Amino acid sequence: MTAFTVAIDGPAAAGKGTVSKAVAAHFGFAHLDTGLLYRAVGRKVLDGADPLAAAGALVPADLAGGGLRTPEVAQKASEVAADAGVRRALVAFQRGFARRCGGAVLDGRDIGTVICPDAEVKLFVTASPEVRAARRYRELLEGGHAVTPEEVLADQLARDARDRGRADAPLVQAPDAVRIDTSDMSIDAAVARAVAEIASRRGDG
Ligand code: C5P
Repeated sequence: MTAFTVAIDGPAAAGKGTVSKAVAAHFGFAHLDTGLLYRAVGRKVLDGADPLAAAGALVPADLAGGGLRTPEVAQKASEVAADAGVRRALVAFQRGFARRCGGAVLDGRDIGTVICPDAEVKLFVTASPEVRAARRYRELLEGGHAVTPEEVLADQLARDARDRGRADAPLVQAPDAVRIDTSDMSIDAAVARAVAEIASRRGDG
C-alpha cells in the first residue's frame, strides 16, 4: 500500500469536516481534523499554558477529550494559530500523518498550501458567510450552547478575518485546488462531488 494524500481546506462551517469524514470512510483512508490541534492548544492556553509550550507538548490524547467544540475554544484556537511558532511545532505531526501508508485525508486551512503542497488531491470546500453561520448556529444549539445567530455570525467573521489575514499560512485556496461551493448543495451532493474527484485522480474505473 502506498501513501495518497487528500488535502481539504476551507473556512469554518463550510462542510469540510463532514465531507472529509465521508470520503475517508468511502476510500478507507485515515482522517485528521487539523483544527483539533489548534483547538487543543487553545484549550490549554485558556487553562493558563504558554502557547508554544502547549503546542510542543501536544499528545494524541489531547485531541480525543471533549470540550474542544465550544465557541470560546474556537476563538482561542484561531488566536494561537496566528503564532508562527505554534504552527511550526505542529507541522511534523501533520506531514507524518499525511504520508502514512493506505491514504490520508487532512482537513484544515493550510493543508494544500503549506502542510502538503504535493497532495495528490486538493479540495477547497466553501460556502457563503450567511449559510455557514446558519449551519454553525444550528450545530451549537443542538450541542446545548446558548448562543444567538448574531453572536455566531460575529464570531465567525472575526475568525475568518484572522484566518485570512494572518501573515503565516493564511486561509487561501491553493491554485491547483478544486473548489466545491456547498451554499446550495446537499451534504450528499458535496460528498459525491469530492468522491468523484478523488476517484478520478486515483485512476479508479
Ligand atoms: O477547523 P476548526 O474550526 O476546528 O479550526 C479552529 C481554528 O484553528 C481555525 O479558526 C484556524 O484559526 C485554526 N486552524 C488553522 N489551520 C488549520 C486548521 C485550523 O489555522 N490547518
